[in-house]
Amino acid sequence: MNAVGEIIASRRTIRKFNHAKDVPLDEMKEMAHLASLCPSRMNDQPLEYVLIKDPELCEQVFANILWGTRNKVNTAFADPVFAPNSYIAMLVNRTIRDVGYEYDAGAAAQNIMLYAHSLDIESVFLHCINRVALSQLLSVPETHKVDSLIGLGYPAHTSTVVPVTNGTVYSLDAGQNILLPKRDPDSITHHNRYGAK
Ligand SMILES: Cc1cc2nc3c(=O)[nH]c(=O)nc-3n(C[C@H](O)[C@H](O)[C@H](O)COP(=O)(O)O)c2cc1C
Repeated sequence: MNAVGEIIASRRTIRKFNHAKDVPLDEMKEMAHLASLCPSRMNDQPLEYVLIKDPELCEQVFANILWGTRNKVNTAFADPVFAPNSYIAMLVNRTIRDVGYEYDAGAAAQNIMLYAHSLDIESVFLHCINRVALSQLLSVPETHKVDSLIGLGYPAHTSTVVPVTNGTVYSLDAGQNILLPKRDPDSITHHNRYGAK
């Protein structure tokens, strides 16, 4: 595997961050630049980015992350002491595209998260968020909507890929390491025709 493959393979979602170091604004600008180069349906490029570093605003943003999902592990990470100290909010310019921007958003988010990881800055892609409150907090105009947030920072825990044995829901071990089941690539990869191995 080459260096790019290593970066892709070793990126993991992190939900507790260490505040000893700050995420440099210049690197966040570079993340937004790299996001802007992602593949885009019809090359419409409907996405925009808000780089959030103001500590008070970060606190308010954190209060509007809805951690309650199908996985209770997420709530274990909802302690403000370990909150990300930087965020990139991904906005959609609805005057350009109001539906069908989601693949663009996924590709852009991945560019951000992989570049961040290459700098040892880790991330959490947050879709379960209070969009109404965040729109107000970030002064987002009616023409735009908040799609998602990417929380950024230096990791305060680890995450280890394990084989899928009993579903894909991740768990925490005693050392606050996430055990993250990922499907065996051989079980989901087919050659020429479905089912051929
Ligand atoms: C579209 C999308 C939405 C997500 N939303 C959330 C979220 O709201 N909260 C959260 O804690 N993680 C969220 N995640 C992160 C996933 O839980 C995480 O990617 C998954 O558990 C796999 O872990 P990995 O990123 O380390 O491979 C989201 C990921 C994606 C792709």
